Amino acid sequence: MKFFVDTAEIDAIAELNDLGMVDGVTTNPSLIKKSGRDIIEVTKEICAMVTGPVSAEVTATDAETMIAEGRKLVEIAENIAVKVPLTWDGLKACKVLSDDGHMVNVTLCFSANQALIAAKAGATFISPFIGRLDDINLDGMELINDIRQIYDNYGFDTEILAASIRSANHILDSALIGADVITAPPAVIKSLANHPLTDKGLATFLDDIKAADIKIL
Ligand code: E4P
Repeated sequence: MKFFVDTAEIDAIAELNDLGMVDGVTTNPSLIKKSGRDIIEVTKEICAMVTGPVSAEVTATDAETMIAEGRKLVEIAENIAVKVPLTWDGLKACKVLSDDGHMVNVTLCFSANQALIAAKAGATFISPFIGRLDDINLDGMELINDIRQIYDNYGFDTEILAASIRSANHILDSALIGADVITAPPAVIKSLANHPLTDKGLATFLDDIKAADIKIL
């Protein structure tokens, strides 16, 4: 399973990248706003740090302008994936940009039918939003499962990029279902290392190290 980091914060990406845990990065307008940076400048910096796909989202809602924005975004670096919303115009832009040979991430996916039509339009990645479905008492993980089944039924190459991940359990369940990629905030990725029994066991070992004055260096 590939790990994408869902942030535009350079330091957070660098910390995970140094551990070899960054297979790509996703950004969106809200994350760019949070970074306080210019979209082109910060995206360029991220693309230079990581070798995998870096999703940068268009701002327009009509296909023609989305395509023009996408063509500008792909000039930033070879590893740009143009992110377009799952609207009819977004699908038109997806088809044109993917036919041009660019990676396209179709975002704001909330149904299996949306994922099906995005695959038909040539999406490189489909981004189903798990957390936002859970927020309204729907089952985000059921959506991942349905998309996996549909893509496998017909051999679609579009990769399932499980997004809007809020917890370590979302990552675990996505991995069990077979999502190709997860994108998660740095803190959620780091939380995968946590277990209370690890903390408890280490505390005992530290007590014994002190009591027995165990030294290695
Ligand atoms: C990633 O591509 C999405 O934009 C992101 O995961 C959305 O997450 P949120 O629902 O927590 O804002």
